[in-house]
Amino acid sequence: MKRRTALLALWAVLMLPFLLLLAQPGDDPDAAVAASGNWAMAWLALAVVMTPLAQLWRPLGRLLWLRRAVGLAAFAGSALHLWLYVEAMRGFAEPGGEWALMADEAFTPGIVTGWLALALLLLPALASNDAAMRLLRRAWKPVQRLALPAAALALAHMAVVHDGFSLALALAATVGGLQLVRFFPSKRKA
Ligand code: HEM
Repeated sequence: MKRRTALLALWAVLMLPFLLLLAQPGDDPDAAVAASGNWAMAWLALAVVMTPLAQLWRPLGRLLWLRRAVGLAAFAGSALHLWLYVEAMRGFAEPGGEWALMADEAFTPGIVTGWLALALLLLPALASNDAAMRLLRRAWKPVQRLALPAAALALAHMAVVHDGFSLALALAATVGGLQLVRFFPSKRKA
């Protein structure tokens, strides 16, 4: 299978939970927002631990090129999470009033962290292709590394926004702990 086909196939598989949520949103719009947020967080966490895991377990290094599909699924999933949030706000507002409601709460700690995480993910997502890689050259890696502060903000968002503190803390300890591996010398650069 060609690499591009494999990436597309993996991306499609990772998007399945979001498609199911869109197809069957259920009666509780908040539950769909929460579920989509959890899936987006799962794929983002996976994307940022692949490099340190490959440093710990060399055979994984050959699969690092699949990170692109995982990162793009995290971004697309986050965008769908945002869309479900807009839909949920529509349920609370007068017709057309959802944007004012969203603006009202945009700078609360729980929501602003979500917006910032999504904004930071935009650049690596746009640069996740061969053309951008050729264009950006040495700047490409620093752009991709924006996924790390984005993951930290997404974890802060998860901790604050809705009863997710313990789970966010456990995930932050795992993801953060694995990032320490990046500081240990490795023969192969990932
Ligand atoms: C535009 C930015 C974002 C907005 C406005 C937003 C909004 C929300 C809201 C309102 C909730 C609470 C849902 C509930 O009632 O439980 C939520 C939960 C969550 N969001 Fe976001 N979010 C954004 C971006 C993100 C991003 C980028 C991620 C991760 C990649 C993310 C991951 C989560 C997680 C893990 C939860 C917790 C789900 C739970 O309570 O179980 N969000 N978000």
